[in-house]
Amino acid sequence: MSRFAYVNGRYRPFAEASVHIEDRGYQFADAVYEVVYVRGGRPVDADLHLDRLERSLAALAIRPPMGRAALGAVLAEMVRRNRITDGLLYLQVSRGVARREHAFPAPAPAPALVVTLRRLPPYPTDPARWAGRAVTRPDERWARCDIKTTNLLPNVLAKQEAREAGAMEAILVDADGMVTEGASTTVWIVDPAGRLCTRPLDHAVLPGCTRAALVALLAEQGIGWDERRFSLAELRAAREIFVTSASGFVRPIVALDGEPVGNGAPGSVTGRLFDLFARHVQGGAHNRVP
Ligand SMILES: Cc1ncc(COP(=O)(O)O)c(C=O)c1O
Repeated sequence: MSRFAYVNGRYRPFAEASVHIEDRGYQFADAVYEVVYVRGGRPVDADLHLDRLERSLAALAIRPPMGRAALGAVLAEMVRRNRITDGLLYLQVSRGVARREHAFPAPAPAPALVVTLRRLPPYPTDPARWAGRAVTRPDERWARCDIKTTNLLPNVLAKQEAREAGAMEAILVDADGMVTEGASTTVWIVDPAGRLCTRPLDHAVLPGCTRAALVALLAEQGIGWDERRFSLAELRAAREIFVTSASGFVRPIVALDGEPVGNGAPGSVTGRLFDLFARHVQGGAHNRVP
């Protein structure tokens, strides 16, 4: 089946879609992006993703390529044209095309918008089969990880190291020995006292949309959790570890650096949150179409 990509105002057959060689996203990673899960033809947590896209654009002084309603219409049209009901939307906005020079071009070029959509396997139903292994790696990224830029080389290198170690995620640890986040996920633990926790949001981590959706679900269910920083030692001592992302949902981590987490199977808290999030994805209150 042919696929379509959206590139700067046009829906193009995927194989023919391309961007200019002087696109600043290509040359400088002067671009931001979002990844949105589509379930049953509906972008999940679309409002949260479009809010974050707007924040990322504002942080880098890149003009939004179009209004929010128009962008929502592009996403809906991509789902329709590609006939993909369960998949991943990728949106990238760069500062645009200009002669190569580090400082922002003046006058500002039109921002460049690319949207792709690819099919995903069916939504996982069994946390044990969805579980993965993680390794820990030093966090070698820049000081504004809260902005979702395409500048992902340290994440790419950490992920590759994870893969070479037979793991699905690299959990990043800062110079003070504190856990920041995964190479492409938010990290959560259940500590030895049974408390669920994830670290506070600051410039060192991306404010995950899945994190935000899960936090709302925890409040709704009256499940307590702590927002606090935790160390590598605490990560190693955790009863349970799981990671969240738009493409991975709630994913149990059952081994860390080759050692089992807890008894080496997804724990009860992780299992409960896996189920809770699965219901949310099916159409919960926080899951609105833009
Ligand atoms: C570094 C990083 N942290 C956290 C996340 C999770 O964010 P979200 O839940 O919005 O997918 C991602 C997702 O790509 C990420 O790249």
